[in-house]
Amino acid sequence: MEILWPSMAFTTRPTVKMLMLPAINMSSIVLFGPPGAGKGTQALRIMESTGLPQVSTGDMLRAAVSAGTSTGIEAKKYMDAGQLVPDEVIIALIRDRIREPDAVNGVMFDGFPRTVPQAEALEGITKVTHVIAIEVPDERIVERICGRFTCGNCSAVYHEKFNPTKVEDRCDTCGSNDLRRRADDNENTVLSRLNAYHEQTSPLADWYQARGVFNKIDGDRAIDQITSDILIALD
Ligand code: AP5
Ligand code: MG
Repeated sequence: MEILWPSMAFTTRPTVKMLMLPAINMSSIVLFGPPGAGKGTQALRIMESTGLPQVSTGDMLRAAVSAGTSTGIEAKKYMDAGQLVPDEVIIALIRDRIREPDAVNGVMFDGFPRTVPQAEALEGITKVTHVIAIEVPDERIVERICGRFTCGNCSAVYHEKFNPTKVEDRCDTCGSNDLRRRADDNENTVLSRLNAYHEQTSPLADWYQARGVFNKIDGDRAIDQITSDILIALD
């Protein structure tokens, strides 16, 4: 069977065990975890293998903020404060996104759902077959977030120390020099985001565990090892 490996270069060779994985064919999956856990990093690496488009509510909200839409104006005050955007705003965004043609076989949610009401709404929208929970201790998060930069052209995610570009100021994936820092990537906002995660999002772990779809992945390791474990969990 043909193996669909991510086109992004792995810094280590895939192991034999990894190469025996078949292409994945499934309904929607959820990438779950605290801010800076590596949800966006892993989404881009497993997108080709799953055949599912990444749906990041954070990216959608940032696009709305840049475009100056009413949703963006409403969301910005919450994002700048490191708080969750109200459920009804997020659920409306997801209902619209899931109607797009590329979502017909399901999607890979990144950063959604983040509350029990969001998860309940999702049950009526698509079947979630796997929740991949990337676990990283709080003490690692601030360093990860404060060193992050992303490509404004293709959304590739980098870190000045843990995952730098090969050529300075050039995206490895698309060659763009439009490398950006996020407005909410500062120490104060990160602490609020972590607080929101522990209070409002982490209860979802039990909610999904009770439904038998929850998979824990140790996210405090090398990026390639995490990708490998996620692909195994999805197999
Ligand atoms: P969102 O954009 O979703 O941010 P987040 O959940 O806080 O997560 P991040 O994007 O910061 O982290 P990530 O897990 O994607 O990590 P990454 O791969 O970039 O949301 C932003 C805001 O929007 C929220 O605060 C909220 O206001 C609002 N919002 C969004 N969705 C919402 C929802 N559903 N409900 C309500 N409000 C919502 O990696 C981080 C860094 O670490 C990078 O530099 C990367 O290179 C590095 N890294 C990755 N993996 C590793 C590794 N294994 N080792 C070392 N470094 C690593
Ligand atoms: Mg992200």
